[in-house]
Amino acid sequence: MSLPTPSPTMRAVVTGASSGIGVALAEALAQHGYSLILVARRQDRLRALAERLAARHGIEAEVRAMDLSDRGARAKLCAELADRNIAVLCNNAGFATYGELATANPDRERQQVELNSVAVHDLTLAALPGMVRRGTGAILITGSTAGNQPGPHNATYAASKAFANTLAESLHVELSGTGVQCTLLAPGPVRTEYAEAAEAPNLDRMVPGPLWVSAEQAAADAIAGMAAGRRRVVPGLFAKVQTVGGQYTPRGLVGPILRAIYRKVV
Ligand SMILES: NC(=O)c1ccc[n+]([C@@H]2O[C@H](COP(=O)([O-])OP(=O)(O)OC[C@H]3O[C@@H](n4cnc5c(N)ncnc54)[C@H](OP(=O)(O)O)[C@@H]3O)[C@@H](O)[C@H]2O)c1
Repeated sequence: MSLPTPSPTMRAVVTGASSGIGVALAEALAQHGYSLILVARRQDRLRALAERLAARHGIEAEVRAMDLSDRGARAKLCAELADRNIAVLCNNAGFATYGELATANPDRERQQVELNSVAVHDLTLAALPGMVRRGTGAILITGSTAGNQPGPHNATYAASKAFANTLAESLHVELSGTGVQCTLLAPGPVRTEYAEAAEAPNLDRMVPGPLWVSAEQAAADAIAGMAAGRRRVVPGLFAKVQTVGGQYTPRGLVGPILRAIYRKVV
């Protein structure tokens, strides 16, 4: 299976395109010749990226600055995606919180579920029928190694990424034979603004330097995996070890181990 051949009317959508993995995905897709729809809240960053990619790669890049955790704003984007020739959808925007759920800010936890799970579902529901009708398309869902097992002190994030991981892998199989594919990107630590957004400064100190992968590496692996029609892409050796450990260590053991680690993050 290969990626759809880019055309002037078709678009690749990247959510979370103002930072980190999303910027790198947008750059890689533009390099492949895709015109883009870039989505995130920070309009200035999206505009600067759109101008840079259009100038460098001769593609069109449209900006949709919005809060994807807002159902009303999201509905407008969904209506647009359902109407347009969307060839690639990268459901990538997301953030994490760390700490005890009992003392967490309930609004922020709900916002996390809206963004990491419900928005991913909504955007996929919007773009998928057109892709299947046209017999071509590719969906990337950025889940996480955090979605493979329980995540005490990171509970909402782990649960929201379990949804993302399972949705992606379910669709991967369901779409077989339709010409449309779905790939899960399930990274471990990637050097982005993730730790800052999670208000988790200790993450940097807790994970030794060589275990981090770059956003560019994660995006390159994701695009190569999509092009190869892969079910799951796990960039870097450490994330692969995390994946095996998280999936095969008995839950009675992995929960307490992660509790001891995650409680030190904030
Ligand atoms: N970095 C890691 O270690 C790691 C590991 C596993 C999985 N991931 C996942 O990778 C994905 C990308 O994260 P990243 O590492 O690149 O982090 P990042 O640098 O913080 O980027 C997050 C992106 O999501 C966007 N975003 C956040 N809240 C949003 C909202 N309410 N509406 C619209 N866009 C929103 C941000 O843009 P605005 O702030 O401009 O809205 C930004 O573009 C996320 O799903 C994350 O959970 C990251």
